[in-house]
Amino acid sequence: MPAIVLVGAQWGDEGKGKATDLMGGDVDYVVKFNGGNNAGHTVVIEGEDGTREKYALHLLPSGILTPTVTPVIGNGVVVDLEVLFEELDGLQARGVDTSRLVVSANAHVIAPYNRTLDKVTERFLGARRIGTTGRGIGPTYADKMNRVGIRIQDLFDEGILRQKVEAALALKNQVLVKIYNTRAAEADRVVDELLGYAERLRPMVADTSLVLEQALDAGANVLLEAGQATLLDVDHGTYPFVTSSSATAGGACTGSGIPPTRVSRVIAILKAYTTRVGEGPFPTELFDDDGETLRSVGAEYGTTTGRPRRCGWMDTVIGRYANRVNGVTDFVITKLDVLTGFEKVPVCVAYEVDGVRHDEMPVNQTDFHHARPVYEQLDGWSEDISGCRTFDELPAAAQSYVLRVEELIGARVSAIGVGPGRHEIIQRHPLLD
Ligand code: IMP
Repeated sequence: MPAIVLVGAQWGDEGKGKATDLMGGDVDYVVKFNGGNNAGHTVVIEGEDGTREKYALHLLPSGILTPTVTPVIGNGVVVDLEVLFEELDGLQARGVDTSRLVVSANAHVIAPYNRTLDKVTERFLGARRIGTTGRGIGPTYADKMNRVGIRIQDLFDEGILRQKVEAALALKNQVLVKIYNTRAAEADRVVDELLGYAERLRPMVADTSLVLEQALDAGANVLLEAGQATLLDVDHGTYPFVTSSSATAGGACTGSGIPPTRVSRVIAILKAYTTRVGEGPFPTELFDDDGETLRSVGAEYGTTTGRPRRCGWMDTVIGRYANRVNGVTDFVITKLDVLTGFEKVPVCVAYEVDGVRHDEMPVNQTDFHHARPVYEQLDGWSEDISGCRTFDELPAAAQSYVLRVEELIGARVSAIGVGPGRHEIIQRHPLLD
């Protein structure tokens, strides 16, 4: 059976939960393949009796809450073990069975000194900061590439763990003390802290690439769910204002050990408007009342840091780009209801940079910083659309909006979110074969 990749098309927080809700009970494995506890999703589970339980997850794959799903933390993830066990304890206290979780032996560990380094580096950068979540993500991926990282499997070999921590700290402590004027990390303390998690972790650890291959061979549906999004991808995003991992469809393969030939669908989530947290260019950003309306109606505040998100109109240059780099088979447009009430809904169709029109993402980041949106003004609608369950039930102007966006981004829109509730969605095409 096929592997399905789910990615965000913009700068994150597009609402991937809408797509996973639609696939519901048909998914057997949910794999997190990149990022760490910089992500944040709120999952609302509706009980049979109509009760609603809210869970905020940062590290664990959303599938942890579905009893029929095996959640997997892939090799491409960076794991903060303190957060992992905090989230597991929190769920267990609420009666959630977390015993199915599988963690890759090759995933990297966010060591405590990397959390420190993330924060002091941002402080040091001042006006040039990235606006990271401060969780140690960047320094941990840097260690991985520098080949001084600590992997989950190292926790089961004390001698190796000690050697690796000492090797990493030989340089890092110089940086911490001499450049950032802060305290050195003690190798013994770090090793003891990490070893403290080993026994609890041991039963969860596996060769997840093998587990997933066997699952696919046995006919399981495997969903590979990206953290962050296309424009935060370290290669394809708005570098350097990106996260440090591969958040696009290609990353699903390297971050999980599933080969590209097994991926049959790529679903991209595109919010009906655009948001971004942290620093970096954002051509359609609004600084007026419309931006404030999008923020308050769309409840655009970060799940991980609580920061207000920057808001702006739909940018189809970005949508087209997301289609290209991910090979999107299906788009899901989320939060269409948030646009209700605007007389006109501008859609960015191209950019203008120093008098030159760009229909595609500019080659140079500097041009992207200077890009001014070229808008097409579409008619708005005022009817409440949250009760619509078929495309035909949408007001004509809302239908035209979706169809025009679909035309501009170049791949079909298979579902449309019309409200925050689980069932507030219009499905046009099934997301699973
Ligand atoms: P880092 O991932 O903490 O290194 O942060 C790098 C950039 O990615 C910052 O601009 C963050 O705000 C952004 N970022 C990281 N995770 C998310 C996410 O889940 N949603 C939206 N933005 C994110």
